[in-house]
Amino acid sequence: MTTQTTAAFYTEFGSLDKIQVGPLDLPAVGECDVLLRVKAAGLNPIDYIVREGYYQQALPSVFPTVPGFDVAGIVEQVGPGVSRLRVGDEVFGMVYRPVAQHGTLAERIVVPESYLTLRPHTLSWEAAAGLPLASITAYQAVITAGQLQAGETVLILGGSGGVGSTAIQLAKHAGATVIAVASAKNAAYMQSLGADFTVDYAAGPIAEAVQQVAPGGIDLLFDTVSGDTLLQSLAALKPAGRLLSLLNDGTALELPAGVQFKHVIAHLSLPDLEHLRELADAGHLQIPLAGTFPLTGIMQAFRQLESQRTVGKLVIVP
Ligand SMILES: NC(=O)c1ccc[n+]([C@@H]2O[C@H](COP(=O)([O-])OP(=O)(O)OC[C@H]3O[C@@H](n4cnc5c(N)ncnc54)[C@H](OP(=O)(O)O)[C@@H]3O)[C@@H](O)[C@H]2O)c1
Repeated sequence: MTTQTTAAFYTEFGSLDKIQVGPLDLPAVGECDVLLRVKAAGLNPIDYIVREGYYQQALPSVFPTVPGFDVAGIVEQVGPGVSRLRVGDEVFGMVYRPVAQHGTLAERIVVPESYLTLRPHTLSWEAAAGLPLASITAYQAVITAGQLQAGETVLILGGSGGVGSTAIQLAKHAGATVIAVASAKNAAYMQSLGADFTVDYAAGPIAEAVQQVAPGGIDLLFDTVSGDTLLQSLAALKPAGRLLSLLNDGTALELPAGVQFKHVIAHLSLPDLEHLRELADAGHLQIPLAGTFPLTGIMQAFRQLESQRTVGKLVIVP
């Protein structure tokens, strides 16, 4: 019976030097839990936001805290109430519990089966582990909240990041014209994912650059970066356009009359995750990797993530 695991963890909030790697006790496998051998665990910006203590109201932490929400792995043991999964199943999921404590950056985790489903069989373990949180977010924004339709034009701010990379592909698959914004060095990358046009946020007012390629304006603006990039983009919206933001709650935004606004907060939905799995297995969704690191490389991985210059997904292979 496995009672301990090697994990990345911290015992107080703070910067990345608070993270250590070592043995931790595993919780007992409960009625509806599985014991998972982690093959890969994806990183997301929320991992350092939680570690720095900025997210306590929405998500309280219990120390020692193992960070990590995204995971792909193999079921090694099941509790007596587990109904869908079996020992040996290859699964992935977004382990977004009510409390940050038992995250995914470990060799083994105990997790309710309700957070997991079978993994895409065409993606590597690393790509599967990079899919859940970022791609669910992109899907729940662009498709569910944004209702993007074929023939519409979408502007994606942060097209080279984890969320933006999937958003470009989902928008293209929906039949939209895609304009993606990042720095010039990432233009070819965004085109490779399906962007019809790219805009360099450092090259001048974004709305003016968009006007060149979409003179009638854009139907949907998907914001994953906020700040000045968002403010510069608002004028590109059509009069009855839709704006979705992951970071801005809209209270301080002066929106053009008629624009519909939604602040999107992603949540785990197994049907959404399974739909994304099917898109991946059908060849419509790839998860480009920015880098893979062993657990002992966790500081390096977080340093790259916190630079906010990551292109694609960072993944830990414990
Ligand atoms: N509300 C929610 O539920 C939710 C869910 C997921 C993520 N988020 C948030 O959404 C944000 C994006 O997440 P992510 O996982 O995609 O992050 P990420 O992978 O770290 O994004 C990094 C990318 O952002 C680009 N970028 C940085 N500044 C930019 C700017 N001013 N204009 C355009 N692109 C810019 C960078 O491109 P360059 O190197 O070219 O600058 C880089 O490729 C994070 O702040 C995250 O916390 C919120």
